[in-house]
Amino acid sequence: MQQASKTQDLPLFSLLDVEKSFPVDGGRRQLKALDGIRLILRPGESVALVGESGSGKSTLVRVMLGLEAATNGRVLAGATELSALDASQRRRFARDVAYIYQDARGSLNPRATVAALLAEPVRLHRLRDEREIPGRVDELLDQVGLPRATRLRYPSELSGGQVRRVAVARALACEPRVIVADESVAGLDVSVQAQLLNLLRDLQRENGLALLFVTHDLGVASYLCEQVAVMYLGRIVEMGPTREILQSPRHPYTQALMQAFPRFGAPLAASLQGEIPSAADLPSGCRFRTRCLHVRDDCSRIDPAQTLLDGRRHVACLHPLAA
Ligand SMILES: Nc1ncnc2c1ncn2[C@@H]1O[C@H](COP(=O)(O)OP(=O)(O)O)[C@@H](O)[C@H]1O
Ligand code: SF4
Ligand SMILES: [Mg+2]
Repeated sequence: MQQASKTQDLPLFSLLDVEKSFPVDGGRRQLKALDGIRLILRPGESVALVGESGSGKSTLVRVMLGLEAATNGRVLAGATELSALDASQRRRFARDVAYIYQDARGSLNPRATVAALLAEPVRLHRLRDEREIPGRVDELLDQVGLPRATRLRYPSELSGGQVRRVAVARALACEPRVIVADESVAGLDVSVQAQLLNLLRDLQRENGLALLFVTHDLGVASYLCEQVAVMYLGRIVEMGPTREILQSPRHPYTQALMQAFPRFGAPLAASLQGEIPSAADLPSGCRFRTRCLHVRDDCSRIDPAQTLLDGRRHVACLHPLAA
């Protein structure tokens, strides 16, 4: 019993000082897409990964899921290094972790009906007898609020919102412990976004699923996730309870993001001053200093480490904002 509860308590994922570099300019330079990433996701937790385009969100997800190897640092699933999982652990991992791709339509086979798309993971992981599969498909359609008649449709016959629901149903078909979703509501109109977010929130609360939700929308983050990790140029600059961070951001980048992006569903405004620098050519010292309204002399010399403030949140800034 004790052994079982220990397994339950283990983090689902641990990223420990993870770095990911890509060679650019024909290998002459390295682009650091992730730098010093430390992120732990426990069962039942919901974490939003927030940041502008190019901050490394998708790369973090891909490294966490083992789709790309980290250049440095450790990526653990439970207590085991991802690269050391044996074949049966790998199958278990594929079932436990459902990934909803940024491009939901592109991730679905256009020649398969919705019923076939939903039956496939159930068969693959042998979760039901063959005769129970049609009933399971209906259950999944009910769960994501799609009419059962949708089972005969092809992805090309569905709207953007319906396709995302099919992607969510396909994720649930594996009976996962964690859903990882990359920009899953971006580009949808606000009412469809709200429906999908409600669905994910209910699933997370009712089924105790963990959720890692990638978004550039702080409104979405606050609606859906208890924790938020704000990324800037490959680094998590502020991380902790969403409500506290949005009430009083301590990192100047979080504050700037909130000012640029005050409303749910509003596109990220261009009012954040200056352009995001290239990850292949990071500023010296603090990587945010070229855009920071609170920059001081030492910011160009010292690269701020993540520091625990208020006992609950981590901030990587030499001069954090007052609480
Ligand atoms: N395969 C790749 N080769 C070279 N650079 C890449 C590759 N994948 C991502 N990058 C770069 O890494 C940085 C982070 O990208 P990404 O993780 O897609 O950010 P986000 O999802 O936050 O928009 C960007 O500068 C991007 O151009
Ligand atoms: S370390 Fe300096 S430049 Fe960086 S965010 Fe803090 S105040 Fe701004
Ligand atoms: Mg992305």
